[in-house]
Amino acid sequence: MIYAANFKTNHTRQSTKNYIVELNEKLGVKKPEDSVYIFPPSSALDVYEGNFTLGTQNAYPAHNGAYTGEIGVEQLDEFGIKTILIGHSERREYMAETQEKVANKFSFFQEQGFEIIYCIGEPLAIREKGFESVMQYLLAQFDGIDINYDKLIVAYEPIWAIGTGRSATVEEISTTHRALKKAINDKPLLYGGSAKPENIKEITSITGVDGVLVGSASLDAGSFSEMVLS
Ligand code: 13P
Repeated sequence: MIYAANFKTNHTRQSTKNYIVELNEKLGVKKPEDSVYIFPPSSALDVYEGNFTLGTQNAYPAHNGAYTGEIGVEQLDEFGIKTILIGHSERREYMAETQEKVANKFSFFQEQGFEIIYCIGEPLAIREKGFESVMQYLLAQFDGIDINYDKLIVAYEPIWAIGTGRSATVEEISTTHRALKKAINDKPLLYGGSAKPENIKEITSITGVDGVLVGSASLDAGSFSEMVLS
């Protein structure tokens, strides 16, 4: 299983350091077949020791240059970071990242050989229209994306389940993952949206779920390590 922690705009450099110390202590006994990813905010990127992969929540598709407020490959190289989240619904919505922008970013980081956790998800209005509408919406988020990229991991995160405390049901996750797995040639597929210690076992037991991308419940090293060790 893959357990990925997306801190979003939470934690400082210092609290990230403390978090990693605590996580390392707790994860000493993690199963070898499980992998852990941590995505802290850009200001907390650094070289950290531990049994996990450090990734960036975002970057601009350039090595360096005049892109005020952004970081590029040069800044990620400093810390040996080769993993990136692309397409998160919060970036699509709040940072107005269109499918075209997302696809350009994907192609750029693919060319750089990055491992990409590519996020897709539908809003509630689409979910309420039924499964066919959901799949149509989700598949459109693969426009311009090379689903055969060997370092691709997909994360299905229904927008209405993110940060709401209300995860999708086992049935919703199961049917959506089954259909998505076919569409992405069986690439690793994570679920995200109110995953927490209380529901982690239920979620990771679903066929077609290869792991979780966790926001809120990942912010506490105790709660996240409990999920990893579940
Ligand atoms: P929550 O776990 O807070 O619902 O967030 C999920 C998410 O968006 C992870 O990328």
